[in-house]
Amino acid sequence: MHSAQTVDSSTNDKILIKGGSVKGVWWGLQTLEQLLFQARTSPKKISFPALRIEDWPRFAYRGAHLDCCRHFFTVEEIKSFIDLICMHKINNFHWHLTDDQGWRIEIRRYPELIGSQRQESVVGHHYHSQEYDGIPHGGFYTQEQVRDVVAYAAARQVTIIPEIEMPGHAMAALASYPWLGCLGEGYEVPSLWGVKEDVYCAGKDSTFVFLEDVLTEVTDLFPYGLVHIGGDECPKARWKECPRCQRRMRDEGLGSEEELQSYFVRRIERFLASRNRRMVGWDEIRQGGLSETAIVLSRKREQGLRSALENGNDVIMTPYLNCYFDYYQGSRETEPLAFGGFLPLRTAYDLDPFEGLNAEQSRRILGVQCNLWTEFVATLDHAEYMLLPRLAAFAERAWTGGEGNYPDFLRRLESFSRLYDAQGYEYRDFRPEADSLRASLGS
Ligand code: ACM
Ligand code: ZN
Repeated sequence: MHSAQTVDSSTNDKILIKGGSVKGVWWGLQTLEQLLFQARTSPKKISFPALRIEDWPRFAYRGAHLDCCRHFFTVEEIKSFIDLICMHKINNFHWHLTDDQGWRIEIRRYPELIGSQRQESVVGHHYHSQEYDGIPHGGFYTQEQVRDVVAYAAARQVTIIPEIEMPGHAMAALASYPWLGCLGEGYEVPSLWGVKEDVYCAGKDSTFVFLEDVLTEVTDLFPYGLVHIGGDECPKARWKECPRCQRRMRDEGLGSEEELQSYFVRRIERFLASRNRRMVGWDEIRQGGLSETAIVLSRKREQGLRSALENGNDVIMTPYLNCYFDYYQGSRETEPLAFGGFLPLRTAYDLDPFEGLNAEQSRRILGVQCNLWTEFVATLDHAEYMLLPRLAAFAERAWTGGEGNYPDFLRRLESFSRLYDAQGYEYRDFRPEADSLRASLGS
């Protein structure tokens, strides 16, 4: 899986790129392109009379997630995002396609899904704001557009993991087809961020027919091995009150609503397996028990990770303290409004996916992922600003093993960021930090 690459210009008349696979050669090409760019644009003259780079990734899975539900991004913008992650040698795009505030993928059997728009969006932070913008927000990808994006990504050796959220974060689906919920009526696409009580009814067989139909179309569109089913943040209030959900629990001998969630997730996993897909979900797919074959995308070391490893699941690490790029990267006084938290460049660089794990547990870690939730990110420029340069820090930890060297990373970022300038990317200025670090090191 790890495809070593060699870029060799140590003989005078040729540059040779060798790799263990097409992918290896592709990432080698990225390296060469970046070297040539530095040579062309450096204020000092650079030449590479003889050079040999031998290199391979630390992890086979290097992921980046983009939430296209809280704010919609066009196909052109998605392609631009793919270019951006590709330049950082990220090889998996986790495409968050459904959530409470929007359903973004055309499903032919259920045309209403993409008709649902939210009427407006909250202005400012949803924790305290009472103000709304009065502007309807929608948007979706047709199946033809999805195929186009899949082909675009494939040409760049980027795999896409589509996410269809369940059993929670389902308000947009419930607004289109109210029979999917326990109450059966009264749903709207929410204008406010945050977790909603209304979720898919786990008692109705029609819910599973719907989800299997959706996943059939999704697996027809995405020719990859992994499908993400969300699983996070599913309140159990409706299930506790719903006669159908309670009946399901009795019929299946389930002792709690958490076990009902487990029933839900396992039923979907079996369906995905019948389509030759492996299920991925957030930490909470562990709730009430999980098969050993599922992959846990773990943002909470305390909750999901331990029990997933004890259960024998493979894990992709995305600890929110290091990998949630919707968090502030500087002072709240000066940074644009963000979800919360504090995740400066240094913290992104300090990602240690093996922290607290023994050798055997470490072998279960397939890779790492960073995430961009977009409640507060409405444009691609702003998305770039949130990603860069934290994505470079993340990418180095994803690609390169060992301890890392932050001052050295900052120094190299000076030249790497010229690529950002050339591409016209927005990014947060890291130079004041680099300058003050240099001053403090006395160099
Ligand atoms: C998540 O942060 N709700 C996956
Ligand atoms: Zn129900």
